[in-house]
Amino acid sequence: MDLRQHIRTVPDFPKPGILFYDISTLLAHGPAWKATVEQLADAVRPHKPDLLVGIESRGFLTAAPLAVALEIGFVMVRKKGKLPGETIRFTYELEYGSDTVEIQKDAIQHGQRVVVLDDLLATGGTMAAAIHLLRIAGADVRAAAFVMELDFLEGRKRLDVPVTSLVRYES
Ligand code: PRP
Ligand code: MG
Repeated sequence: MDLRQHIRTVPDFPKPGILFYDISTLLAHGPAWKATVEQLADAVRPHKPDLLVGIESRGFLTAAPLAVALEIGFVMVRKKGKLPGETIRFTYELEYGSDTVEIQKDAIQHGQRVVVLDDLLATGGTMAAAIHLLRIAGADVRAAAFVMELDFLEGRKRLDVPVTSLVRYES
């Protein structure tokens, strides 16, 4: 199954000059999405995670079915203000402004092996922030896994864990 054929590109979204890689068409195609989850499972299993982590919001789509396939639990890293109870937050800089990721304080036990999931690796800022937050929360982050990667943005250089992605775009 060639997943690339099921990913739509949309020019000039969300801004003029940006080519958007749209996972919607992959999600909407049953066999292609099933193959996506199976390929992710094969890539992630060797890291022997105790838990998966998904990054809001499209990372949830990736982590949730994978957790079922691997028969392990899944934890949410969310945008700020969405999680009840005691939380840990990490704010990181963007090209314009800043963003904050948050996790529940008791979501991860010290030393638990986690693999972090998102749909797309672009600049790597989102994943780097999530990994930083997870380490504060006590996680042993073993790998980061994505459906798509924009190679030319060199996001993997910002990540100090093994990176796996199913579809890589070179330009
Ligand atoms: C997109 C994408 C990744 C991130 C990748 O999320 O889903 O999470 O950007 O970019 P980066 O590698 O440059 O950080 P977005 O913030 O658009 O939100 P969403 O997942 O809620 O749609
Ligand atoms: Mg996202």
